[in-house]
Amino acid sequence: MAGRFSFRKVTSPPVEPALPDDAAAAPDGIAWTVFPEGEPETAAVLAPPPPPPPPPPAPVVVAPANPVLRDKLLDAKVRLHRRLIEEINLSALEKLPEEEIRKHIQQLVAQYVLVERLALNTQELSDFVTEILDEMTGLGPIEPLLKDASISDILINGHECVYVERGGLLEPTAVRFKDETHLLRIVNKIVSAVGRRVDESHPLCDARLLDGSRVNVAVRPVAVDGPLVSIRKFSKKPLHLNKLVDVGALRPQMAELLAALVKARVTTIISGGTGSGKTTMLNALSAFISDKERLITIEDAAELQLQQPHVARMETRPPNVEGKGEIRQRDLVKNALRMRPERIILGECRGEEAFDMLQAMNTGHEGSMATIHANNPREAISRLEQMIGMAGLPMTIASVRGQIAAAIRIVVQLSRLSDGKRKVMSIAEITGMEGDIIQMQEIFKFVRTATLEDGTVQGHFVATGVRPRVLTELTAKGIKIPSNYFDPGHPL
Ligand SMILES: Nc1ncnc2c1ncn2[C@@H]1O[C@H](COP(=O)(O)OP(=O)(O)OP(=O)(O)O)[C@@H](O)[C@H]1O
Ligand SMILES: [Mg+2]
Repeated sequence: MAGRFSFRKVTSPPVEPALPDDAAAAPDGIAWTVFPEGEPETAAVLAPPPPPPPPPPAPVVVAPANPVLRDKLLDAKVRLHRRLIEEINLSALEKLPEEEIRKHIQQLVAQYVLVERLALNTQELSDFVTEILDEMTGLGPIEPLLKDASISDILINGHECVYVERGGLLEPTAVRFKDETHLLRIVNKIVSAVGRRVDESHPLCDARLLDGSRVNVAVRPVAVDGPLVSIRKFSKKPLHLNKLVDVGALRPQMAELLAALVKARVTTIISGGTGSGKTTMLNALSAFISDKERLITIEDAAELQLQQPHVARMETRPPNVEGKGEIRQRDLVKNALRMRPERIILGECRGEEAFDMLQAMNTGHEGSMATIHANNPREAISRLEQMIGMAGLPMTIASVRGQIAAAIRIVVQLSRLSDGKRKVMSIAEITGMEGDIIQMQEIFKFVRTATLEDGTVQGHFVATGVRPRVLTELTAKGIKIPSNYFDPGHPL
């Protein structure tokens, strides 16, 4: 059977090609097998989170349906907010527990509502109090979105347009900021919490919310229509690999193989587009690392939630306002090598650190893992080649490829499909080099058969019929995977 089929670049769409036996060396230097093309990316952005700093005078938010009521409420909130700022000692208030503050504000609001003759029912009154409270101590209009566990991303495009991602799909919300100044105030609250600021001379900033969510901010002049804020919410409950199987991201046989590979310290990279679930998969796989190993994680914004007891976490640092003090991923990878790690987990490999990462993988830190932005496994390898090029070392392309082929054994490819579902599109094995061509073979893949009118993707997971070479290594380490998992046509 097409034991290790060969190479054929897949340039065309979701028609499932027959496993080819003809081999043609790909011009990009990666011998190739049958991979489904990556889904077009439509995803959202990411960002880290902050805590609540001191409140300056400002207005409030609104979402409601009736525009007359909405304007009246908005107006009332702005006035009430000003009054509260004038009348109460905010810094003293902020030290109180949230329940106390709430009681305090509730009393003031109740009085105010009477005086102003606002017709609010109990629910509206309670919402009003919550909004005033969010405004004073939290992040204003987006607080409810941050609390909503079904939302994974919050994307603010200027003060009048806020989108969220739910179940993998973007949807508009009725959340509004009063004006640009209001939004900027919230933005500054976020970034000042991580000791940064944004203005015309520093219009871009990464930050993190108190709960660990990632935030990216862009303001004028780079953001043409007003501040752009992208928040990737921190998922409090990391998805376990079994859960990923339950939601249909992969089949149990694939999960069993991946878990075995992690246990056996087979070096794996996770590839995918923006928001395709790379970090989630990395987290899920890390659960299979032995408790006895020392792990070092390197990230821009610490998102990984490893369960092992012996984890040393490191985070990069952007340059300060004077442009000094930057600590890059490459610095951290090099440093990690002096910290006696057993495995290094790199949140996202995206530049010059690729070279040091591969070195580490090749020199006793097998089982290290990283994610990479790419639409298919072949592209992931090409991107690695480019990244190694960025390190500016005098290496020939053949030796770069040799390093890659020696270091990485498995590529897990993820995609977010048009219906918002995240799936493992492919599990591919790197089997070595032939000449200066990297040999790769696909073990499992998702075959997309149709897309319904509402965008729902239909398809199934299949084994390509290739028996992974790494099975020999697994067997030697006492891990058995039933060989029928790899039979072609075996229902997964
Ligand atoms: N299989 C899945 N099913 C449902 N939701 C998922 C799945 N995988 C990931 N998610 C959710 O999708 C969102 C994005 O996932 P994640 O952060 O892992 O993506 P990513 O590829 O690392 O994104 P980025 O490129 O921005 O770093 C998260 O909210 C996560 O909880
Ligand atoms: Mg990620």
